[in-house]
Amino acid sequence: MIAAALLAACSHRPEVVADYNVVPLPGMIEIDTAGTADKFFILDKNTVIYYDNAELKNEADFLATYMKPLTGLSLKTSAEKPSGNYIELSIDNEILNPEGYTIDISKDDIEIEGGNAAGVFYAIQTLRKSVPETGQHNVAFPVGNIMDSPRFAYRGAHLDVSRHFFPADSVKKYIDMMALHNMNTFHWHLTDDQGWRIEIEQYPLLTEIGSTRPGTTIGHNTAEIDTIPVSGFYTKAEARDIIDYAAKRHITVIPEIDLPGHMQAALAAYPNLGCTGGPYEVWKNFGVTNEVLCAGNDSVYAFLDAVLGEIADLFPSEYIHIGGDECPKIEWEKCSKCQAKIKELGLTTDKEHTKEQKLQSHVTKHVEEFLTSKGRKIIGWDEILEGGITPTATVMSWRGEEGGIKASAMGNDVIMTPYTYLYFDYYQSPDRDKQPLAIGGNLPIETVYSYEPLPDTFTDEQKAHIKGVQANLWTEYIPTYAQVEYMALPRWAALSEIQWMQPDKRDYADFFQRLKKLTKTYDDLGYNYCRLAFEEDEQAPAETTTE
Ligand code: ACM
Ligand code: ZN
Repeated sequence: MIAAALLAACSHRPEVVADYNVVPLPGMIEIDTAGTADKFFILDKNTVIYYDNAELKNEADFLATYMKPLTGLSLKTSAEKPSGNYIELSIDNEILNPEGYTIDISKDDIEIEGGNAAGVFYAIQTLRKSVPETGQHNVAFPVGNIMDSPRFAYRGAHLDVSRHFFPADSVKKYIDMMALHNMNTFHWHLTDDQGWRIEIEQYPLLTEIGSTRPGTTIGHNTAEIDTIPVSGFYTKAEARDIIDYAAKRHITVIPEIDLPGHMQAALAAYPNLGCTGGPYEVWKNFGVTNEVLCAGNDSVYAFLDAVLGEIADLFPSEYIHIGGDECPKIEWEKCSKCQAKIKELGLTTDKEHTKEQKLQSHVTKHVEEFLTSKGRKIIGWDEILEGGITPTATVMSWRGEEGGIKASAMGNDVIMTPYTYLYFDYYQSPDRDKQPLAIGGNLPIETVYSYEPLPDTFTDEQKAHIKGVQANLWTEYIPTYAQVEYMALPRWAALSEIQWMQPDKRDYADFFQRLKKLTKTYDDLGYNYCRLAFEEDEQAPAETTTE
C-alpha cells in the first residue's frame, strides 16, 4: 500500500491548470466551482484524441501537435472510441454558425463539437491557448462548458510581399500566427510597383525582370538609393503548397493582382503595356507612381485576362482581389490610345466622375466579367467606387470608413480595413525612438481595440453588407520577417477580438489582462512582438484605494 502510494507519487508529473479566458474571449464560459479533484479533467499520457468522423483527423492531428510542446506528451489520436480518458472531436450540424463550437469538459472526457471542421479547429485553438505555458506537465482542465462562435465570417490579415519579399516558409509562419488568432482569410498582396512576386507562365518576364529591384530608397522615400537588391517570387508549386497549408488551418488565400495602377514592375518587364512605352524600372521609391497600365491598348486587356486566368486556375478562392487603388490619371489624360478608348466607349465627365475615372471603371468591369466567367467574384480597394461599380463587386474600405459606408448603402458587400484603426505599418506608440523606422502615424493597441465596424449610424441593411474586418501590413519599411511579426503582434490580438467577439463583451482592461497571458504563448512560440504597451502599463501609477 505504501509502496503503491510512493510509486504513484514518483510517476506523478507536475500539473498546470487551464484558464479558458483566452484571446479572443469565448462567447460563454461556465465553470463548475473548482477546488476538488473531480472538478477537473486531467490530460495526461493516457489521454487519447478521439475523432468520430474521418474528416476530423486533420483537427485531431493539430491538437496532438499543439499539445506536444505544451505538455511534453505525444498524445495518441484514434478513430475508435477509447476505453479511458479522452478528448472527443465531432461535428454537430445543429450548431448554426458553421465556425461555431461547444466544449463540454467533464471529469472523464472533453467533448468538442463544431458546426463544421473549422468550428472544431477554433475549439482546439481555445484549448491550446488555455494551457498557460509549455513544459513537462499534465494539464487540469476545469469542468464546465464553453460555447462560442465568430461575429464576422471574413476575418482577414493582409501581407504585402512586393515592397519586401518574404519566402514561403515565412508566409507559412504568418498563416500559423493567423490560426492562433482565429483568422480565416489571408489577403496576399502579390504585385506592386516595387516587385512582381508570382510566376505567370504566359508572361515569364514578370518574374525574370519584375521580381528584382537593384536598390531601395533610404529612409522616408528620399532620393538616396541603397545598393541592396530586393528579389524573389513564388513559383506556382510554392503558391499551391501555401494554399494547401492555409486550407488545413481553415484559412482561405485571396490573391491580389493590383491593377491598373501599382503596375510599374510589370511595365519594367513589358513596357508596351504602358501609355508611353517606357522604358520603366522596377520602382526603387515608394508612394504612388504615375506610370500605370494603358487602358486604351487591347494588348493590356489580353495581358489581364492571361494573368487573371492563371491566378484563377492557381487559387481556389471565391474572391480574387483586383486592387484598383491609387491609379493616377495623368498619363491617361495625355495618351492618344486612352483618349480614343474613352471616345469609343462614349465616356464623359459629369458632376460625380471624370471620364478617366470612368475608364478605370471600364477596366474593373472587364476584369470582373472575365473572373465571373471563371466563377469568381472580385474585391477591390474603395477607389473602385469612383466611376461606378457593379452590384456584385466587394469593396475594401481603406481610406477611412467612408468607402464602406457608401458601398454598403448602395447594397455592395464590404470588408472594413480603415487605415485609422487597421494599418499595422503605423507606429505602435508615440515613443518612436524605441521602435524600428515605420511609415508614420500612431496606432497603439488600445486604439485598435476601440474600433467598431458596425456603428449605430448604419442601417440594418448596411450592417448585413459588412462581411468582415481585416488589418493590412504594407511592408515599405518592414525589411525582415521578424519585423513583420513585431508590427502584427500584439495588435492582431485586439483585431481578433473585433473580428470574433460580440461588441458588448469587449472590455479593454479585461482584454489587457488576457493579452498578458497570450504573450506567454507568443514567447513559447518564439514570436517577435512589440512590448511597448506592457512597458507603458508598468510605468503607469498603481491604482490607489481609500480603504
Ligand atoms: C492602399 O493602402 N493603397 C490600399
Ligand atoms: Zn494609355
